[in-house]
Amino acid sequence: MKTIVTTAYRPTDATKLCARETAQLLGLQAVERNKRPIYKLHEELAADVIVCKKERLELYPVGQSEPFFFHPNSAAFRSKRPLGNDPLIEVSGLEPGDAFLDCTLGMASDALIASLVVGDTGRVVGCESDPVIAHVIREGLKNYEDMPKLHDSMRRITVIPQNAVDYLNGLNDNSFDVVYMDPMFTEQIAEASNFAPLRNNADHGQLTEEWVEEAKRVARKSVVLKAHFRSTDFESFGFKRRVRPNTKFHFGVIQMNKTQ
Ligand SMILES: C[S@@+](CC[C@H](N)C(=O)[O-])C[C@H]1O[C@@H](n2cnc3c(N)ncnc32)[C@H](O)[C@@H]1O
Repeated sequence: MKTIVTTAYRPTDATKLCARETAQLLGLQAVERNKRPIYKLHEELAADVIVCKKERLELYPVGQSEPFFFHPNSAAFRSKRPLGNDPLIEVSGLEPGDAFLDCTLGMASDALIASLVVGDTGRVVGCESDPVIAHVIREGLKNYEDMPKLHDSMRRITVIPQNAVDYLNGLNDNSFDVVYMDPMFTEQIAEASNFAPLRNNADHGQLTEEWVEEAKRVARKSVVLKAHFRSTDFESFGFKRRVRPNTKFHFGVIQMNKTQ
């Protein structure tokens, strides 16, 4: 699906500049809004629409009236609970000062929790293969103004708009403590997050032997998989599953325990 960039309904110099810069960066067409509602733009241009607003970027995929934009999402309430009890942190063994590679950034909720844990002596990198999602999230992480307690953790995340397997291929052995993957579920679940409008835009590629082998080469401490509770990927790829009763998704871990 083609994507175009436009401004808010009432453009300002700043939103016009943002539209031009976003279009140039992503190699997309910038289109004057001319007071057209989003559905008109969808009809006339047959394209997903990125809207540059004063406070944030919004993406309206064709057929969606609700936009996708960056929001801390589940990280907002997870950050208020003891982080050591968060299932991702507990399973991965992530600690302050660690380097965390999120292969499937999405809304960056998991990356944000990891970033809170590693703190300012740690490092968080997130790969997102869809360039538009990656850009909306990167800008959101940089500019989101609410929840000041999360700002340092947001700003610390480096977004790589690239397929994780390609990115892993270029990394040195043992260059991250934890490598994490959360591919799109093959089973549809009711999503509470505002990721739902993006189901069609996201990369639906599933785990491969190469992906897991590369993750194991790069991870010093652990490789972690999140998947639907019915997924057989845990067993197929050698992850030890941590069963979480009454949850739709489980985590699995391959302990690396490499000494450096
Ligand atoms: C289920 S979502 C991840 C949600 C994320 N854990 C969060 O906390 O918001 C999967 C995301 O990873 C992206 N993705 C899937 N396979 C990928 C790959 N091989 N490399 C990079 N990104 C990928 C999809 O486009 C989608 O945005």
